[in-house]
Formats: sequence, C-alpha cells, structure tokens
Amino acid sequence: MRINIVTLFPEFFASPLAAGLLGRAREAGILNIHLTNPRDFTTDKHRTVDDRPYGGGPGMVMLPEPLSRALQSLGHEVGKPAPPSAPRLVYLTPKGRPLTQMEARNLAQEQALTLICGRYEGIDARLEELFPLEGISLGDFVLNGGETAALALIEAVGRLLPGFMGHEESGTEESFSASLLEYPHFTRPEIFERLAVPEVLRSGDHARIQTWRRRQALAATLNIRPDLLDGVALSPAETDFLNALPRHLPGRNLYLGLVHFPVLDKEGRSVAVSLTNLDIHDIARAAKSYGIGGFHPITPLADQRALLNTLLYHWTQGPGSRSNPDRAAALGLARPASSLEEAATAVENLCGQPPWIVGTGARSTPTISIKALRSLLQSRPVLLLLGTGQGLAPEILECCNDLLPPIRPLGRYNHLSVRSAAAIFLDRILGDWY
Ligand SMILES: C[S@@+](CC[C@H](N)C(=O)[O-])C[C@H]1O[C@@H](n2cnc3c(N)ncnc32)[C@H](O)[C@@H]1O
Repeated sequence: MRINIVTLFPEFFASPLAAGLLGRAREAGILNIHLTNPRDFTTDKHRTVDDRPYGGGPGMVMLPEPLSRALQSLGHEVGKPAPPSAPRLVYLTPKGRPLTQMEARNLAQEQALTLICGRYEGIDARLEELFPLEGISLGDFVLNGGETAALALIEAVGRLLPGFMGHEESGTEESFSASLLEYPHFTRPEIFERLAVPEVLRSGDHARIQTWRRRQALAATLNIRPDLLDGVALSPAETDFLNALPRHLPGRNLYLGLVHFPVLDKEGRSVAVSLTNLDIHDIARAAKSYGIGGFHPITPLADQRALLNTLLYHWTQGPGSRSNPDRAAALGLARPASSLEEAATAVENLCGQPPWIVGTGARSTPTISIKALRSLLQSRPVLLLLGTGQGLAPEILECCNDLLPPIRPLGRYNHLSVRSAAAIFLDRILGDWY
C-alpha cells in the first residue's frame, strides 16, 4: 500500500516509521510511505504556509494554495469527482468520524491513501469543497497537529495488511475485531509474585480455553465498554453468564415520582389529575424491569390514594398476586405518597440521605445530562419526577435540583404518554449497553 503524507513536519515521521514492524513493512515493500511538504509548493520568498483567519479569532489557518498544489502533485484534481484510481483522501481532524477498527479494516482494502495533517487552527475550509476529503478523528480531544493522528492511522491500517504481522490471526483476535475487548494474556513464569496463571490456560484443553477466553472478553466488555455489546450475538448461555456476574447496579438508587398534583392543564393552570390505572401498571413494570429502587405515585387526594391502595392490594396480596406473580413483583415497587415531600422523605428513610430531585418535561431547559445523571446515581439516590396532565407545574419545578433534557428536543410532535416517557428515560439512564 502506498501512503502519501502531506505534512509541514516530515521529520516527525522519521523515527516511528523506521522502528519495529512498521520499519520492517517498509523494507519489505508492504508499506510505501511518501512525504510531501506544502511548504515546497509556496511561491513567496518566506515560503508562507499560514495566515490569520477571516473574521478574527486566535491562531492561524493553513493557506489553501500550497496545500492544493501539494495535493495536485499527488494526482488529486481540483473541483472534480475523484477517479476510481485516485487514492482516498483523508484529512485528520477532530471534526471527522472516529477512527475505529472497522474503519481501519476498510482503509486497509485500498491501494493508496493520502493523509493530510493539519496544523494551527486547521486548513482553509474551501479545500473541503474542492477535494473529496474524508475527515477522520483520533478521538474527542485536540492535538497540536494531524501528524500523531496520521501515525496512529498508519499503524492501525498497516498491521492489517497481508504479511505485516507474523501470525495473521493475531490481527483478527484482538480487541474490537469481534466487537469485544480482548481476553487477558499471560506468559512465563507460571507464578509471578505469588500470582499463578489461570489453570485453564495450562490445561491444554483447547475447547475450555476458547470458552474461558470468550467469557473473559465478554466480562471485560460488560465492565469497561458495555456499549460494545450492543449488536454482539450472545448465546443464551453467554447471556446467563453475563447476568450472573456481580455488577454495580446504579438503578437501585433511582426512584420515580409520578406527580398528579400540581401539574398543568391545557390552559396552563396548576391542577390535580386523576390516577390512571394503565400508568401505574406500566410504570411499575418498567421500574421492575430496570431494577430501580421504588416508584411513588404522588397525589394529595385521599380518595385517589385509597383507590390506589385497593388496586395495589389486589395485585400484591389479593387474588391478582396469585394469578400473576410477575405483576405482584412490579406493583410491589409502588408506594403512594401524598406529596413530593412525603415521597422524598420515604426515599431518604430508605437510603439514609435525601434524594437529588430531577424534573422532566417536554420543553424543559436541561441542567443535567443523562450521562451526568447516570454517574450521580453511583453515589446518591435520585428521585426522578414525571408529570401527568400537561407536565410538572412551576411549583414542582422549583423544588427540582436539576432538569433532564426533553426526550425529543428536536422533534415537532411532543405528546408522549407519561408511561412511554418513563420507559424511555429509564432505558436512557439504565439501559444495559450504555
Ligand atoms: C490545534 S488542531 C486544530 C483544532 C481545531 N481548531 C478545532 O478546534 O477543531 C490542529 C490540527 O491537529 C489535528 N488534530 C487535532 N486533534 C485531532 C484529533 N482528535 N484527531 C485527528 N486530528 C486532530 C488536525 O489536523 C487539526 O487541523
């Protein structure tokens, strides 16, 4: 594979591209690296490659002319669709799509690549219109220049080329190749600092070793990058294995409050709304499915609470509990409260500290992200409030420590039922793979 690197600092690459397997791959002709410096394509006597940004602001921007000429010297044409034979043109930039193992595998299919390394504040944006640039990012952080990112890309792609590594399968068994983090490796000595290599790896039983490695990979992925498990085909035995692993369950610190007063009506007045049987059942079932601490339907109306207690008695202790024990388990989480204060006190009595109260709404201005809420749950109880009617009244919002973003901040139709909203929030906060 030929890789053209367009860089203001060609000397940056001398040592890393000469060392180890990359150096050997170049000697063997597996990788053919070609360095081009846009400075060699300047026409003024100072060999200028940057200038101040239009519109002001800090830093400098790479001039388009030298870069454009450098690209043309490599066969890239200005303002024309790239012919199929042209190398793919990659601009390393934090604004690009992330470099992943799948991306590396895809790029490794190419005969040639051109990598543009930005410097300063980056390149003149018109180059992105004039050339078919593909932005690729090393991650959500900012480097001084694209050289480090280009090196990472060359190494990730190069090692997938035939002949680069001694054992071809070492490229396919590694982390991310099967969407899982890799299992742990051990080498000699058999005992180090009183720690022995796991018995199974010394057994010579290849089937057992395979199973052990797969399970180690699954457990590490669940622990460190559960998002990668989304889309992994798990056998029923593997699902059972993951289920049996000890896990921190932040859901236990989450409590739902379903507020029936004060909530808004269509005219924007603060009113009380009647209980809805379906909400109680569905939210309790969602609450149980996501393993949360408790569910408080909140209404100050004594007759409504009496009705709720009758319903809960039927399903948790009466005939309903015998005919449908699953429903009994779900509704067992429901504890009626006459006010927000009463619900918060019930949570405090259970957890030993007052809950952080978080409101929700279709048009709320958020003060906490789902991700931040998820980490808050690691350390303290949270009472998440959902409003019936047209949503939580201002009196309730004033009691909230934080507000979550609406479920569809960009959507035009915003009329989810409160039970749908409860299920969506629970999945976003506690879903297994997030
Ligand atoms: C200082 S950075 C420019 C950052 C840019 N002003 C911004 O805020 O997005 C200079 C150059 O480093 C490279 N670079 C910085 N961070 C990167 C990343 N995470 N992935 C790939 N390239 C990166 C790009 O080529 C970029 O043009």
